[in-house]
This record gives sequence, structure tokens and C-alpha cells, in this order.
Amino acid sequence: MCGIVGYVGHRPAAEILLEGLRRLEYRGYDSAGVAIQDVQGISIRKKAGRVSELAGLLAEQPCAGSLGIGHTRWATHGPATDVNSHPHVGGNGEVVVVHNGVIENYSTLRDQLQAIGYVFHSATDTEVVAHLVAHHLEEQIRLGKDPQDQQTALDAIELALRKLKGTYGLGILFRDFPDLLIAARLGSPLVVGVGKGEYFLASDASPLVGHTDEVVYLSDHEMVVLTAQGMSLKHRETGARAPSIQTLEQTSQDTDLNGFEHYMLKEIFEQPQTIENAMRGRFEEEEATSRFGGLNLTVQQLRRVDRIVLTACGTSWHAGLVGEYLIEEFARIPVEVEYASELRYRNPPLSENTMVFAITQSGETADTLAALRECQRKGHPTLAICNVVGSTIAREADGGIYLHAGPEVGVASTKAFTSQVTVLTLLALHLGRLRHMSHPAGKRIINNLQAMPEMVRQALKCHDAVKDIAKKYQGISDCLYMGRQFNFPVALEGALKLKEISYIHAEGYPAAEMKHGPIALIDEHTPSIFIVPKGAMYHKVMSNLEEVKARRGPIIAVACEGDKKLEALADDVIYVPEVEDFLQPLVTTIPLQLFAYHMALLRGCNVDRPRNLAKSVTVE
Ligand code: G6P
Repeated sequence: MCGIVGYVGHRPAAEILLEGLRRLEYRGYDSAGVAIQDVQGISIRKKAGRVSELAGLLAEQPCAGSLGIGHTRWATHGPATDVNSHPHVGGNGEVVVVHNGVIENYSTLRDQLQAIGYVFHSATDTEVVAHLVAHHLEEQIRLGKDPQDQQTALDAIELALRKLKGTYGLGILFRDFPDLLIAARLGSPLVVGVGKGEYFLASDASPLVGHTDEVVYLSDHEMVVLTAQGMSLKHRETGARAPSIQTLEQTSQDTDLNGFEHYMLKEIFEQPQTIENAMRGRFEEEEATSRFGGLNLTVQQLRRVDRIVLTACGTSWHAGLVGEYLIEEFARIPVEVEYASELRYRNPPLSENTMVFAITQSGETADTLAALRECQRKGHPTLAICNVVGSTIAREADGGIYLHAGPEVGVASTKAFTSQVTVLTLLALHLGRLRHMSHPAGKRIINNLQAMPEMVRQALKCHDAVKDIAKKYQGISDCLYMGRQFNFPVALEGALKLKEISYIHAEGYPAAEMKHGPIALIDEHTPSIFIVPKGAMYHKVMSNLEEVKARRGPIIAVACEGDKKLEALADDVIYVPEVEDFLQPLVTTIPLQLFAYHMALLRGCNVDRPRNLAKSVTVE
């Protein structure tokens, strides 16, 4: 969370920074700000609220200059106010900083700095960094270092960074070194875009699209010095390194709205295509299996796997739950799905042949990254199921599978979920075929998978019906989601979508568990959404549904086309096409995404930028 941009070159920085911040707004939108260096010094414009507020401020009070940094904030320390907005100033204006991450020892450092006379204006942890760098700069000069030599500034940063505990992606300007833009990383992502006589800095590659396709990813403990003339990279322990330039594949059309009102809706409707993309080139029809280019494990290693841990956060964790059912069913390998935030501090006994998969859309979620590193430390092969190419987790994992879903901009994840489920189905097939699964069984799975883009296209036809149902329920304050087996994670995901964007309290439950608590919530004002497609669990879920009906709870059913029985029982029915049980999540999720979307719209919520959330959670 929080997005950082930077620019140094020959063009006016303000518009480039603003556009970059707009593209990073999904990382946080509590406030935005820029600092731009020109002959008169560093000018700062910052404001609570969206990047559009900052754009207004810059229109009133423009900033000239071709070097600058910018920030869009997701508040961690201190509320979303103008004064807590980044950039923050250190000393008497010698240093200006933007920061993504959390400085865990900030309060000790602040006490120490206050004791020697530094005055703090904000409640942020970041201001500590600004003052600490200013303090070491002043100290270096006092010790006789040349105040004109940029090495003095770099040493000051290095000394300050050694005192920080926590995570940071930093962009730093010095008043007295007007050509320098410096960035440093530990735990929060940063990427440099290499242009012609210009360089860009950003938290991820999206602000670079359209400017350059040559990028350099920073690693932890690296610092980069950018001037219009060049860049130099240095690792804290291993010293200077030549930048390894990679080519970016993203295009600017990928992040256009394409006529949709919101990114979320656009991304929901992209799913037939993104599911297809997740499968493209991954079938080996002759062998009735799937293949992956990047697992980096031999067949022997894969056969030896006796346990799989899937770790993730949020929606990706729900996809992991579907993966658990799939892998256990197809490959008979025991699977555990762990919240990354828990796994990172637990010490579960993992056998030598345990394989760990991190599932993550962004590839930057701090907890998922930490869990992955913890498992790596213990010698387990770690793999990633990831969407963002070149993200930290994609780079640090031993191998992995990309989703190829294209950028997901809406904060509420939609297409990434169905792509993750698709990839996990392919993985389960792959592992199953290395073990006991027969050729015909593998072939049947492939045939069913290949039909899924069309099935999802048909499922999307429920859009108008869902819109009408949302109108009927827009005033509710609670909602229960119920499903069993493959549709239990879908119930969790449906509830999460509603909570995230419409701020309605919602809970997902395995339908039969309802009797052990949530049934007490049922009354005529609390609807239950039952996911009850035709399949192995149909009659069981129907019994659970009857139990709610007997207590006068309104029922919305997600059912298979032509299910007349449900029409009689449920208050409202949303139809999806009938597919095999193991593929049901790909179709039953669709109406739940649309329901959350329309409920949020009707309640006047900001669908793509829900309050308090961020797309990519890069703090613990
Ligand atoms: C945030 C987002 C969720 C997402 C979760 C995990 O909470 O708002 O939509 O599911 O992070 O993100 P990841 O990028 O690791 O999948």
C-alpha cells in the first residue's frame, strides 16, 4: 500500500508524476502529494483525498521542474490529513522523502531525534526517516565530509537506513543536490524505468507504461541513484551492481476502462478471456495432462511431494481453498491452506517433501512474501501463482505459474480469483496425472476446462437479473452466504466482495455449519444467498435452504438453469450454466461479484476505491 513515483529528465515532472499517481491510486487513496525540484529549491504540494484533489491544487499552484517524487497514501500512522500526507521534510528542508512501508521503531527514533532538537509536524513514521537522513547529513558535514560531494548525501542515507527497523520503499530528494533522485528498498517494491535521458521510479510498473518498456527491479537493501545522465545501483552488503534491464510487456490499453463504468465491472466481464488466457498453451492433450513452463521442478521431485501448503491473503486465500479441494481430489496429496499472516510466525512441522505455493495477484503482499521467505529459509521448494510479472514474489519464488490475467485495477479482486482457480485446476490435473489419475479422467477434465470460457460467458448473462435483485435488497444490513464443498470458498468470496465494496456485514459459511450459530441471525430482514447448483451436494444444500426458509429468512439462490424446484422455494433465483462440481466456482462466483457490484453502486459507494482498503497490501 502507498504508491511511490519519481521522475528525473528533461520534461516537466508534475504531469508525469500526477499520471503515475493516478495509476498507482489502487495502492492507497487517503492523500497524495509531490515534491518537485527546480532552481528555486524543492516545492511541495500535498493534500488529503484523491489524486484528483492534488491535481486541482497543482493547477492552482503549479510547480516547475524536471525532477520530483510523488506519493499516494494508505494511512498506517496518523489519520488521512494534509499534514500527514507525503512528502515529508527532514531537518530544515534539506531532505524530502516519500515512503511506502512501516518503520517499526519509529517512536524510539522520534524520541531520540526530538531530544536533539528535531521538530516533528506529522504523526507519521515517515517523518522520522526524513529527519534521520537530515541528521546524518548534518553529522557527516560536521565530521568534515564535503557538503558539495553527493557521496556525503549517499552516506547519510546509508547510515539512516541502518537504523530503521521495518519495511520501506523510499524516494528521496536533497535540497542541495538538485540533480539527484535517490531510492532505496527493503520489503516494499520499487522499479526504475529507463528512458532516453530520463528515468522513472515507481512502486510497480504501471506508471512506466507508455514512457518506456525497459525496467530495472530493485532488490532488498539496494539503493539507486538517478540523474538525467544515468543510474547507479548499490547493494548495502555486496556493493555496486550493473543494472539488469528487463522488458515490460504491459500496454496502456490494458488499463483503459474500454467503455465500462468501473474497472470492477470491466474485469468481471473480462473473465471468459482471462480464464482462457490462464489455460493457453498449458494442455498436453495427447498425454491428457497440463504443462507449465516455470515450475522448475523435475517430474521426480513432483512425484515425491507428500504435502502441499497453499498460502495467501484475502481473495487469493479463497482461491487456495478451492485449490485444496481440487488437489486432494485429483492428486490425493494432503493440502493445507494457510493465511500468510499466520504462517509467517508459525512453525508448523513440514516434511522434507512439502511444496509451498504462494497465491497472489499482485506478488507484493507483505505477509505472503514473508511466509514464502520463511518457508524458503527452511529449505522447501517455494512456488508462486501470481499475476504481476516481475513482482517481488514472482522473482523470489523458486518457480511458478503466471495467471496472464492482465492488470487488475479494481480493488476488489474478481478476474484474478477465477484465473487462480483455473490455474489450480490445471495444477491439480498435472499432479494427479503424475500419480494415479487415468488418461480418460485427465481427458475429461481437459474437455470440461476447455468449455469454461463459454460457460462463464453464459453465466454473465445473469447481469440484468442480478441488477434487479440488488435493487430489492439494497437496504439490508446483513447477509449470509452459504455453500458446500467446492462452493464453500465461493460463499466466503461472495461475502468478502459484499463487505469490501458495499460495507454490508456479510458472512460466508459451509451451509451445514449454519445450524451451529449463524442460524440465530436469520429473520425476515437478513437474506441468505445459497449457492446450490446441480451436483453431488445439491440435495444436502437444499435441506439447509429449507431450514432457513422455515425461519422466514429471505433466500436468494444461485442455481443451474432450468431448476424449477428452486423457483418455488427461493425468493429470488439467479441462474448459471450447469458444469461439473469441481468447476462450479468459476460460474457460481460470477453472480456474487455482480451482486456486490450493484449493491455498492446502489448504495452510492465507490466501487473501485472502497474506503480503508488498498489493492496491494505491502505492510504487515
Ligand atoms: C488486498 C486486496 C484483496 C486481495 C488481497 C491479497 O486485501 O484488497 O483484493 O485479495 O490483498 O492480495 P494479493 O495481491 O496477494 O492476491
